[in-house]
Amino acid sequence: GKVVPFYGEHQAGIITPMQDFICMGAFDLTAKNLGEVRELFTRWTEAAARMSQGQGAGDNNSSPLVPPDDTGEAEGLNPSRTTITFGLGASFFDERYGLSGQRPAALVDLPRFKGDALLSEWSGGDVAVQVCADDPQVAFHAIRNLIRIARGKAVLRWLQEGFQRTGAADPQGSTPRNLLGFKDGTNNPDVQDAAAAKEIVWTEGGDHPSWMTGGSYLVMRRIRMRIEVWDRTTLGEQEATFGRHRATGAPLGGRTEFEPLDLAKKDAAGKPMIPADSHVALANMEGKVKILRRGYSYSNGIDLKTGQLDAGLLFLCYNRDPREQFIPMQMRLAAADKLNEYIVHVGSGLYACLPGVKPGGYIGSTLF
Ligand code: HEM
Repeated sequence: GKVVPFYGEHQAGIITPMQDFICMGAFDLTAKNLGEVRELFTRWTEAAARMSQGQGAGDNNSSPLVPPDDTGEAEGLNPSRTTITFGLGASFFDERYGLSGQRPAALVDLPRFKGDALLSEWSGGDVAVQVCADDPQVAFHAIRNLIRIARGKAVLRWLQEGFQRTGAADPQGSTPRNLLGFKDGTNNPDVQDAAAAKEIVWTEGGDHPSWMTGGSYLVMRRIRMRIEVWDRTTLGEQEATFGRHRATGAPLGGRTEFEPLDLAKKDAAGKPMIPADSHVALANMEGKVKILRRGYSYSNGIDLKTGQLDAGLLFLCYNRDPREQFIPMQMRLAAADKLNEYIVHVGSGLYACLPGVKPGGYIGSTLF
């Protein structure tokens, strides 16, 4: 089907199988009070539900006397599996709206990781909106109309488009490759399995506030790739960096993409087949810590200062508690990952993605 239901226990766009394109933005609120915030989320919810079904953001598009409700560029296009997912940043809980007492313990300020080169203009935001769709124009249309609805109540802080290979280019749906040429997503957990999703993705119980039950935490890292350096690196070195073969995606020393990682496997000289400082050896966390990755490649033209490509990975992951999942994992990667020679983290955000809603409700109603 081309429609992903907007309403439900959980927000769409989290365990939804990845669409081909993303258009993600973060907003800073300018609303004067909580009533205005509520109004904004009510209108956003209605428009998001409509656009997820391929309808315009609003109905009044034929009166010559007023600007149309919808901006028009998705007119006649199918819904393209659009999902629109909302999350709240830590700054949402400052003094402005009287909700500082409700800030979840898990919505931490992320620690500074070794190598971070974060720019505030690519980081944070009071509200993040992840729009995914199988068509880039459909995705852009959705975020554009949400920006328009926000006028007077919120301003856009950053916006990033992203892509992966399309369904048309790979009808078999094999694992997509990132811009470093490797299959990316092979060992992502299967969250269509409800038990895995509960363990890895959905927030519930513990010290989590009840308004987050059925929600999830989204981590965004804009990770620039030093593509020109990578492209001068030998294949052997590239494979040692990830710990997998480029052609097949198999673990080093293995033959097929989906065979299990065997980090204990040694070569004839007694060295581990998968180097201990490789990306997968470290990110594997002994199989004990998992996240759901949902990132997209980005390409923003050239960096005028250096003449190099400004491209990389809009890394996104969902986890039930970043204190136990993303943070320890990124601590380990930042300290030792061989991949760090070729990447730099330039943007960052952590957002509390609210639970889903029923028709008639609005995203955020469990909190305000
Ligand atoms: C695995 C690429 C950043 C977590 C992989 C794989 C590739 C890859 C090619 C192997 C195939 C797979 O299982 O998907 C990249 C690139 C990055 C990046 C290019 C940056 C530009 C990160 C970050 C994290 C992360 C920031 C989390 C903090 C993981 C995990 C795995 C993985 C958990 C699976 C490990 C396992 O096999 O158990 N990544 N990654 N990656 N990556 Fe990354």
